[in-house]
Amino acid sequence: MPIPSHFNSENVPQHIAIIMDGNGRWAKQNGKARVFGHKSGVKSVRSVSEGAAEAGVKYLTLYAFSTENWNRPKAEVTALMQLLVSTISRETKTLNKNNIRLAAIGDLGSLPRNCQSELEKAIENTSSNTGMTLVLALSYSSRWEILAAIKSLLNDVKSGTLDAATLNETVFNNYLCTKNIPDPELIIRTSGEHRISNFLLWQAAYSEFYFTDILWPDFRKENLWDAVTDFQNRERRFGKTSEQLK
Ligand code: FPP
Repeated sequence: MPIPSHFNSENVPQHIAIIMDGNGRWAKQNGKARVFGHKSGVKSVRSVSEGAAEAGVKYLTLYAFSTENWNRPKAEVTALMQLLVSTISRETKTLNKNNIRLAAIGDLGSLPRNCQSELEKAIENTSSNTGMTLVLALSYSSRWEILAAIKSLLNDVKSGTLDAATLNETVFNNYLCTKNIPDPELIIRTSGEHRISNFLLWQAAYSEFYFTDILWPDFRKENLWDAVTDFQNRERRFGKTSEQLK
């Protein structure tokens, strides 16, 4: 479905981040195993990536696997990793067709070897695309990221590469996985949960939040465009008063 003509293409967030939630409940509702929900969720990933690119979004970050997700039953973790590998390798062609560059944030070294190599291959094969960047958050959690940044920063101070007195937000940003990515203006969470779940805590300082009851496997590009429309009707004040913005 093409983007509707009434869609306002002004003031589209340049970065949207999504907590894709509800795969398990969707599977249960359909009398299937949880993995079936994740598999169906890939259709939503495809539709939403396409819809974001069509809307002119520059960065789309998808929370595909959190640090905490390693604690799920082993069979589910294995199935999710396999799904990631097969999806990444299968979708590279479509990413290129849509001029989408793939990127990833998280503790990528903790992923299974085949997942790492498939990811590296897809990132390399899409690196010259100039349209949207699709960022997969994999084995990611904000607290892990912030701690890793602090450890690396302390090392640099110790070795003399960084003068602690010059530390500010911009310098700190450069130690995060998202160093080359602008902060998300809009964060969406599906499935009726109203939590941030260790996702982009530093980067979400001024993000707008959009919650929907739709379960991730039912979420499509039209729902993304609705979220963008909702965002466009909000006043972002960044701590100022309404009058100051006029
Ligand atoms: C949350 O639903 C979803 C996940 C932990 C995994 C998301 C993964 C995919 C959509 C598939 C692969 C993605 C890519 C980018 C190829 P849940 O299992 O927590 O649902 P529940 O809360 O209903 O149990």
